[in-house]
Amino acid sequence: MQLAYLGILLSLWALCSSLDNGLGKTPPMGWMTWERYRCNIDCKTDPENCIGEHLIKSIADKMADGGWRELGYVYISIDDCWSLKKRDSKGRLQPDPERFPSGMKALADYVHARGLKLGIYGDLGNYTCGGYPGTTLDTIQIDAETFASWEVDMLKFDGCYSNSSEKALGYPKMSQALNSTGRPILYSCSWPAYEGGLPPKVNYTFLGSICNLWRNYDDVQDSWDSVLDIIEWFACNEDALQPAAGPGRWNDPDMLITGDFGLSYEQSKSQLAIWAILAAPLIMSNDLRSISQEAKELLQNRLLIYIDQDSLGKQGRRVAKVSSLEVWMRELVDEQYAVAVLNKGTDGIPKRFFMSLADLNITQSALGYKLYDVFEKEYVGIVKPETNIEMNINPTGVVMLFVCPASDRLHRL
Ligand code: GLA
Repeated sequence: MQLAYLGILLSLWALCSSLDNGLGKTPPMGWMTWERYRCNIDCKTDPENCIGEHLIKSIADKMADGGWRELGYVYISIDDCWSLKKRDSKGRLQPDPERFPSGMKALADYVHARGLKLGIYGDLGNYTCGGYPGTTLDTIQIDAETFASWEVDMLKFDGCYSNSSEKALGYPKMSQALNSTGRPILYSCSWPAYEGGLPPKVNYTFLGSICNLWRNYDDVQDSWDSVLDIIEWFACNEDALQPAAGPGRWNDPDMLITGDFGLSYEQSKSQLAIWAILAAPLIMSNDLRSISQEAKELLQNRLLIYIDQDSLGKQGRRVAKVSSLEVWMRELVDEQYAVAVLNKGTDGIPKRFFMSLADLNITQSALGYKLYDVFEKEYVGIVKPETNIEMNINPTGVVMLFVCPASDRLHRL
């Protein structure tokens, strides 16, 4: 009797505490201000690039008419430094009126009219990381209500200036507060990144019940070193991270920096390939108003996006290391796979590499497999599991293959 009672209580608790917004069934895609625009609030001398409504509107226009939205890039998110340094007389956060003269609701309307969704940034703590007003345990409810009243669609909830106990209370509390507004708001939690990103300090099962995505590790910077560091951290900790991911709950290795200054063409391909293998959110931080055609084509690669957005939602992993080469692999629906071979070498020589699907335990299809080269955008041919596939992988670059059973028609592409 008592046990049954306890069971009911626990189920009720799970019902109330879990994030029930039905969002993020595939990794979220979009654009965010932080990596490229940081805390640039100088709208007087740098009106094109400061954090303000002009930047958001002009990027939203590009997302809507530059072919981005149709591919799934729908979230446009304002990161830190959007607010005034003081709450209003009713205790609500308020945007800086000089930089957001029309207000957030009008900006959300503008974004929605273009078929996009608006994201905003908050921080569980006394201040945001950039020193703007934070959300304390006492202001979680009012802030969730304010965001919902503006018709915001996503919240990135950072964790500067709070301790571990406050985080343990505050992240679930914000999840419930967002739920209670009745507005579906994609909830991105930076909590694990502040706790070292790993169990036992981070409980990924619980996190998956209260957040749609979460930052696990350090901020991406505009450099290949930074991307490599993130890749290595995810590879080393994949046993803990892989089971955490799935529809509605994603690990977030941080923003895509393709189209910025720090990555070469090959390195941009590598970041995209590994992010897709990791079932990572594809959130760009770049200037879509002036992006090169080359970078645009990489970010708009349909097969890459198809792989990232695969409905099985299973995160892939690094399966082998051979000198400077790494083999990464992700299982997709219907016995399809994505395979990426990354060449971390910097000696200048494209590396030749031979590998069969049988080496990767891809052997089920009696008729063999069709291979597509994701970045060359070409059909390679049909191979048997034991066929040796030859690849040439450029330094700091990647070769990525999409593998599907030969019997399967490619009707979803
Ligand atoms: C932290 C986060 C970044 C960004 C900044 C804003 O560093 O990890 O992604 O949001 O704060 O100040």
